[in-house]
Amino acid sequence: MFSEERRFAKPICWAMVGGGRGSEIGYAHRAGAARDGLFQLMAGAFDIDPDRGVDFGRSLGVAPERCYADYRALFESEARRADGIEAVSIATPNSTHYEISKAALLAELHVVCEKPVTFTVAQAEELKRLAAERGQVFGVMYGYTGFPMVHQARAMIRRGDIGEVRVVNMQFAHGFHSTAVETHSPGARWRMNPQISGPTYVLGDIGTHAFYLAQVMTGLEVEELLCTRQSFVKSRAPLEDNAHVLMHFSNGAVGTLWASSINAGSMHQQKIRIVGERASLEWWDEYPNQLRYEVQGEPARILERGMSYLYQDDPAIACHRIGGGHAEGFFESWANLYTRFAIAMKAADQDDQATLAQTWYPDIDAGIDGVRLLERCVESADNGATWVKF
Ligand SMILES: NC(=O)c1ccc[n+]([C@@H]2O[C@H](COP(=O)([O-])OP(=O)(O)OC[C@H]3O[C@@H](n4cnc5c(N)ncnc54)[C@H](O)[C@@H]3O)[C@@H](O)[C@H]2O)c1
Repeated sequence: MFSEERRFAKPICWAMVGGGRGSEIGYAHRAGAARDGLFQLMAGAFDIDPDRGVDFGRSLGVAPERCYADYRALFESEARRADGIEAVSIATPNSTHYEISKAALLAELHVVCEKPVTFTVAQAEELKRLAAERGQVFGVMYGYTGFPMVHQARAMIRRGDIGEVRVVNMQFAHGFHSTAVETHSPGARWRMNPQISGPTYVLGDIGTHAFYLAQVMTGLEVEELLCTRQSFVKSRAPLEDNAHVLMHFSNGAVGTLWASSINAGSMHQQKIRIVGERASLEWWDEYPNQLRYEVQGEPARILERGMSYLYQDDPAIACHRIGGGHAEGFFESWANLYTRFAIAMKAADQDDQATLAQTWYPDIDAGIDGVRLLERCVESADNGATWVKF
């Protein structure tokens, strides 16, 4: 069971860029970071509109002089304070991630950044190099990977419970953008704009989540892929609102990824199904406390979070906060990840390499792979759905 005893005497002095009033994901960052008392929100540049950002920061209880007009003022002013920030989370639209992350790393801050972490692999690799040179932690907010049952699937596959993996089905296919909602929704509008969203829409917005979940569970490496993408709402072209990707993995397994926002009638449908030689596993983010385990020739089993029959030696599985049967959800998953980010940041500050080596979290390599997926998908789709090396 998760231990709520404080791991550090003093919480990490933390700021946010973006995630302002009314933003989709700002609250999830604040809720996840605050849950276990390991981060304390002390400063921020919360909004593209400086006045609104300052007003919002104050409403959250941040000292007025530490609510800044923009990220440059935030990093510069905080660096001059003896009690300045140590870490920052970046929850702004995609086009800004690279420049804000780079500025944060140059200001000697640990970073948690939203996905997709950059527009190009080269930019993401530059961030990796900058973080490594300074011994800073760079976390990427693949928020679904804090669910214990995702790690139970990972442990079962590693231990050979399903045999060699043959097929990986990944999908994140919601129906919220079946019509041109971007005409009245600002959050949807920037996602359809290549200047802000980047070279993809649904692949980057949600496909990267399903892809990374499967990577965490299987540990498999993609060798090559083929992608076809469409803009069913025509005004979204060149960005896709639906995409299918076929993948070949290095062990001979095949995979499919369906990313869509026009799956009319669906809520999330983020499902990962992994087929092995003897059995299959299936995890669905709308029922995250359960993992389906289907052994060929036997009745299907539903494994439940918090039960003693799960592999208990992995802290990512055993970190349930309430007994089985009670529903844990999205915010617990984010809190699990923020706890791991905090442990890694403290370990990095103390050059505690042993703790760093055993603290798993979605890191910059995860971010790089997500961006690589997008680059390769665009290359394949724009060449008429041809196979390209990963
Ligand atoms: N991990 C997840 O599950 C998840 C879920 C949703 C969104 N996201 C990602 O989070 C990011 C933000 O998405 P959203 O849906 O919250 O967007 P949003 O449009 O709802 O909110 C963006 C916020 O950032 C602010 N902002 C924009 N530019 C800024 C700048 N230069 N400086 C400071 N603040 C700025 C805006 O004023 C707003 O408050 C995107 O990269 C998106 O892909 C991730």
